Amino acid sequence: MVAPVTVQGLDQAPTPHTRLLAWVREVAALTRPERVVWCDGSEREWRAMTDELVASGALVRLAARPNSFWARTDPSDVARVEERTFICSADPADAGPTNNWMAPEEMKRRMTELYDGCMRGRTMYVIPFCMGPLTADSPMFGVELTDSPYVVASMRIMTRMGTSVLEKMGADASFVPCLHSVGAPLEPGAETEDTAWPCSETKYISHFPETREIWSYGSGYGGNSLLGKKCYSLRIASVIGRDEGWLAEHMLILKLTGPEGVVKYIAAAFPSACGKTNLAMLEPTIPGWKVETLGDDIAWMRFGEDGRLYAVNPEFGLFGVAPGTDWKTNPNAMRTLARGNSIFTNVALTDDGDIWWEGMGEPPAHLTDWRGADWTPQSGELSSHPNSRFCTPISQCPILAPEYEDPRGVPIDAILFGGRRKTTVPLVAEARDWAHGVYLGATLSSETTAAAVGKVGVVRRDPMAMLPFIGYHAGDYFAHWIDMGKKADVTKLPRIFYVNWFRRASVEGEGDGHFLWPGFGENSRVLKWVVERIEGTAAALDTPIGSVPAPGALDVAGLDLSAEDLAAALRVDPDEWRAELPQIQAWFEQFGEKLPGVLWAELDALRARLGVA
Ligand code: GTP
Ligand code: SPV
Ligand code: MN
Repeated sequence: MVAPVTVQGLDQAPTPHTRLLAWVREVAALTRPERVVWCDGSEREWRAMTDELVASGALVRLAARPNSFWARTDPSDVARVEERTFICSADPADAGPTNNWMAPEEMKRRMTELYDGCMRGRTMYVIPFCMGPLTADSPMFGVELTDSPYVVASMRIMTRMGTSVLEKMGADASFVPCLHSVGAPLEPGAETEDTAWPCSETKYISHFPETREIWSYGSGYGGNSLLGKKCYSLRIASVIGRDEGWLAEHMLILKLTGPEGVVKYIAAAFPSACGKTNLAMLEPTIPGWKVETLGDDIAWMRFGEDGRLYAVNPEFGLFGVAPGTDWKTNPNAMRTLARGNSIFTNVALTDDGDIWWEGMGEPPAHLTDWRGADWTPQSGELSSHPNSRFCTPISQCPILAPEYEDPRGVPIDAILFGGRRKTTVPLVAEARDWAHGVYLGATLSSETTAAAVGKVGVVRRDPMAMLPFIGYHAGDYFAHWIDMGKKADVTKLPRIFYVNWFRRASVEGEGDGHFLWPGFGENSRVLKWVVERIEGTAAALDTPIGSVPAPGALDVAGLDLSAEDLAAALRVDPDEWRAELPQIQAWFEQFGEKLPGVLWAELDALRARLGVA
């Protein structure tokens, strides 16, 4: 039996929602916070929260940017922890070979022990939030309970949250309960803490797909703690999408308008730190073309009554990779950030109260680096962590498409899959049809990045850029993608393409390993080819892996790029592809019976086209 709780604020709940109230009371009894605060999402609350974080040293107010802050984490708490991320389905087979699994009862037993008293001395915040517009037919609610004011401030940027959500939830709306603690109770009598970034060495990021619950412990950062993002909108939502016939994907969404005013909507899945935010906000270098942003990380896609696939961005902010972001590479991100109201985490601080990171022009003579130490260009170390991030309202993006607030979303014309590969994968290739496109997505590969803790630069399969985010068995997920393609007339399905902005001049040979393709704004040239393929006006060469631009079909007018580099960027080398086959075979084998037969057939067909018996 739990002892009766007397927690300040527990009885001032501004909601008649009995299940929510019971859950908040139950968690408070377990975690024993000093007080409970119901977040209203107001400006006043934001000011109180950020003032408190500044006072505790967790945030530094930036003199050079309006209403913006600098945060540093514990040096051990800098990225998603895939090793500690679990899908706790009742049956281990439902988590599949790509996820960590633990039985739900066992995980709950362990975590309940950790949660016991874990908020002592702290405030527990109740954050009612909604993923996607509140005007949706069935708004997707969540409530996060957290002891981290940094999470509250970040969730206010990243989600629609507060009183309007609670009101819309009424007395009985269903919601995804998201429980979060940094796992660092304040010892009795401790007035202040000895660290501005409390966290725990023990970390769990747990998902209970059957009961649609999320329990997170020990980390305060990014996808580990902003539970509306990867945990809800991808891992739990992918399970809901499987059950209800839609897709939750790690995709940007953009609107592309051509010189004649023709509009196309494109969704693109690239693994973490592989270019979604940059492509979503791209400033085309080719005359007459315009890009508008709808989303930079997550897309929920379902078929509309007209048989087309519609995508919605469930998020409200951008949590973007800082290093590499600059006026040259991503001017629209710079404009978004210039409007203020942002939190910068693990970047460097300039002496005049601004932020700086690698890739942002010439380094200043002196900085305070992400660890809080003095930094000069001679330091020989990175000033900013490679996974340092900006957190900023998407509404500030100067090229936000007006359709962003439309709960129906936008009809997708093309889906791009892409990864970070030094070799093998050409700049762009078009799938033959939906099944081939699903095959390309299912075998997508990429070099690991700093967005997750672990070794960087290792090639791994990252299906649909969802490896760390599929909330169920990946074989079932592939089958779900195949089934989705059967729900609509083939002429209405998005066309599927495979891109790689990251191929390099021979890395092992004498080459200097430079990127073959200039990327960023120049990627508009690839988008143009995609649109022209859809319109039937661009020429392509058939290759074993799909159709690539025929010589002259990719618009490179005015581009400073050698003919050798262009040819090398587009090359499909059968030897390189033959070398991939055993890896793909092994990748598929682990899914056993669950791998859809059509994907085996696609692999066999590829083998035949490559002349392998
Ligand atoms: P997550 O937020 O982790 O999901 O990442 P993301 O997919 O949104 O990646 P983002 O756009 O933030 O890019 C990650 C890194 O790749 C940044 O350092 C960019 O500068 C770099 N990058 C993005 N696009 C290109 C490109 O076209 N070419 C090259 N060479 N680098 C790029
Ligand atoms: C990613 O890793 O894909 C991100 C950052 O977008 S996080 O929110 O930490 O997942
Ligand atoms: Mn992401």
